[in-house]
Amino acid sequence: MALQLAKPAPPDDDKRWKMIEVTMRRNGYASHALIETLHRVQGLFGYLDEPAMHFVADSLGLPLSKVYGVSTFYHLFSLKPQGRHTCVICTGTACYIKGAGELIEGIRSHYGIELGQTTPDLELSAIGARCIGACGLAPAAVVDGEVLGKLTVERLIAKIEEVKRHAT
Ligand code: FES
Repeated sequence: MALQLAKPAPPDDDKRWKMIEVTMRRNGYASHALIETLHRVQGLFGYLDEPAMHFVADSLGLPLSKVYGVSTFYHLFSLKPQGRHTCVICTGTACYIKGAGELIEGIRSHYGIELGQTTPDLELSAIGARCIGACGLAPAAVVDGEVLGKLTVERLIAKIEEVKRHAT
C-alpha cells in the first residue's frame, strides 16, 4: 500500500484556507481541480499570491509553474496587488443588494481608486471578489485578512484607516 503523505500546511491560520481545502478534498486532490481551487482562492481572498500558489501546487501535486501558468493565462485571475493594505469588497449578489455599490463608491470618493486599483502612495489596493462566503453578513468586505460584515461606508473607511495607522 502506498504511503499516504501528509498534506501541506496552509500558509497561515486564516480560516479561509479550510474552505479551500474542502474544495480540493471534494475533488480528491486531483490535478483537474486546479481551476476550481484557484477560483475559490480568488473568491475568498480577492487575488492569488505566492504562498497561495505554493499551497495549491503542493496540495494538488502539481508543479508551481503549472499553477502560475493557469493563473496568468486566464484573465479572470488576478495576482497579488501592490498596496501595503488590501480591501476586498464582495460584489456577490447578496452583498450587492445590501449596498456593496455604496462601499465601492465610498472607496472611490475617499481614496480615488476603483476596484482592481492601488493608491499612488501604494498604501491601499481595492479588489472585488465574487462572494466571500459570508452572505449572512452582507454587505461584507475583508480588510487585511479580517472579515467585516453588515458594513457601512463609514465603518469600512474607519477600519482601513485603523490598519493603516497600526502599520506605521
Ligand atoms: S454575496 Fe457577499 S458574501 Fe456572499
